[in-house]
Amino acid sequence: MHEFRHKNNVLYCESVRVPDIAERVKTPFYLYSHHTLVDHYRKIKRAFKSVDALICFSMKANSSLAVCRALVNEGAGLDIVSGGELYKALRVGVDPKKIVYAGIGKTRREIEEAMKADILFFNVESLPELILLDSVAGSMRRIVNVSLRLNPDVAVKTHRYIVTGTSESKFGIGFEAARRIFERSDAFPNLRINGLHLHIGSQITHSRPYVRALRRVYAFIKKAPRNLQYLNIGGGLGIVYGNERPQTAHRFAKAVLPIIKKTKLKLILEPGRFVAGNSGILVTKVLYVKESLNKRFVIIDAGMNDMVRPSFYGAYHNIQPVVRKSHGRAPHMVVDVVGPVCESGDFLAKNRRLPMVIEGDILAVMGAGAYGYTMSSNYNSRPRAAEVMVIRDRFYTIREREIYRDLIKGEVIPRELR
Ligand SMILES: Cc1ncc(COP(=O)(O)O)c(C=O)c1O
Repeated sequence: MHEFRHKNNVLYCESVRVPDIAERVKTPFYLYSHHTLVDHYRKIKRAFKSVDALICFSMKANSSLAVCRALVNEGAGLDIVSGGELYKALRVGVDPKKIVYAGIGKTRREIEEAMKADILFFNVESLPELILLDSVAGSMRRIVNVSLRLNPDVAVKTHRYIVTGTSESKFGIGFEAARRIFERSDAFPNLRINGLHLHIGSQITHSRPYVRALRRVYAFIKKAPRNLQYLNIGGGLGIVYGNERPQTAHRFAKAVLPIIKKTKLKLILEPGRFVAGNSGILVTKVLYVKESLNKRFVIIDAGMNDMVRPSFYGAYHNIQPVVRKSHGRAPHMVVDVVGPVCESGDFLAKNRRLPMVIEGDILAVMGAGAYGYTMSSNYNSRPRAAEVMVIRDRFYTIREREIYRDLIKGEVIPRELR
């Protein structure tokens, strides 16, 4: 559920009219509903209340300060994957003891920064990383908490780019290698290897693969050393983009909790998409409607640089006019909704049946709150979009639209070329 609804044919975010925001902010912009964001966080928190799970929102889904702050205010921790996300997490004001740090390529500098910040966990993905971590911790005279990210080798039905828990994937450590690490844990005197981590993929709509993975992890735990304290089961919960019928947080919890409770470990989750996905939309304007021999193109002012998921993953996003004409009974047309970027792959929808639109109409690309702005770029030297958040009956620009000057920040033309 989300707080973007048409009332009298006009799209509202909570109790604010989206066309009014578009008028003020100009397009394209990301628009978030604070209430939806917080509501989704609470749904998952409540579902795992019986084990008092720590919910670390995955910043890669949306690392805007206001978004993260709204969740941190609710008690959330943050899941980070880079020094940049650590920097932003600290700026948000999260308790560092609620930060977990994943990623297969942490640099020495990033590790040092995270150790200085005294985060809760490093989720470690390889033996060389463990060796570096131990050496850095030793030189900083610290004992550091480590979770081993297990690769449980389970297949999940989702886009191949977001499958992460199979033996083909670059992520995690196989059970046998993890067992050997535990046997050698004395070799890492500066590390407390007291957690297990897994993340099997993203946009997973059913609990089955989680249960399969958790059974394997439980079998592993039974033979693992007794000093384990934490189990982090990652993120990955799917949401509605089109006609998916994903599990609710409650159903998911009901399916996985029996096995989690058996482990007697403290639970951490790292949802990103589930919390932020449906709390945001991308608002964009129709620039032209172009007819070609056998296609009609709706050319909008947001491109793959603003929202890459359709081009990158072939992702489906529902698209709706912000102002509906003729009470939704307007004639329809089948179109490709495309951006201005010079790539044939620059589209937000292909062969999509949409109500008739004309130049100047405003469209809402739904389900854009996760992996939307965070995956945006300046490709084609296009300034990034603004971000706006509605809190009840007011809207706030939480990130200014970039200006041309931002496009050359840090660039230098050597004197020799002048
Ligand atoms: C380690 C880890 N945790 C959490 C997440 C968040 O996943 P999702 O947004 O699908 O919940 C990801 C996404 O890639 C991830 O790699």
